[in-house]
Amino acid sequence: MKQRIAIFISGRGSNMEAILTQAQHGILADCCEVVLVFANTREAYGLQIAQQFGVPTAVIESKGKKRQVFDQEVLALLEPFQLDYLVLAGYMRILSACVIERYHNRIINIHPADTNAYQGIHGYEWAFEQRLERTIITVHLVDEGVDTGCILAQREVDLRGASTLEEVKERGLRVEHALYSETLRGVFTRTFVI
Ligand code: GRF
Repeated sequence: MKQRIAIFISGRGSNMEAILTQAQHGILADCCEVVLVFANTREAYGLQIAQQFGVPTAVIESKGKKRQVFDQEVLALLEPFQLDYLVLAGYMRILSACVIERYHNRIINIHPADTNAYQGIHGYEWAFEQRLERTIITVHLVDEGVDTGCILAQREVDLRGASTLEEVKERGLRVEHALYSETLRGVFTRTFVI
């Protein structure tokens, strides 16, 4: 049975694009169907990419709304889609308890650092400023904290010789794009029991 998933984005959507590619004719093709791409702003460039893939999109503007109110609207929007998983890919909102409870252990996120070492935004800037020789990409379950959920997979990025932030991001994103779909496959085919 294919898992029904929604991908949540706020911006560029390169991880979303990688997942859509794998879901159409790659390692996710037999285990999931992306039934919705959701954004909290219509400015999210990834919406255009999703449309090119022929995937339904939806936007609820979060700006100026209280978190609880916004998240209740999101839950109401999602309900008819009968989703198995929410896959966050550059979604720049903290989810409130009502969402975490409704999709308990079924919300997954990718973080551009080791969540044990660094939480929150600007993970690549942190690695670059610290002149780290390596950083660790993390795919994890989402709980009520910020990047505190159970780690599903991690993969190292070699940063030696990366002299600009752009280079750090480029190397990191290459790993993100591969690791996210591989991990999702593990979850959707129950190689991971969560
Ligand atoms: C990625 O670095 C991801 O790890 C982080 O936000 C960024 C999103 O990039 N959570 P994109 O929108 O997938 O290109």
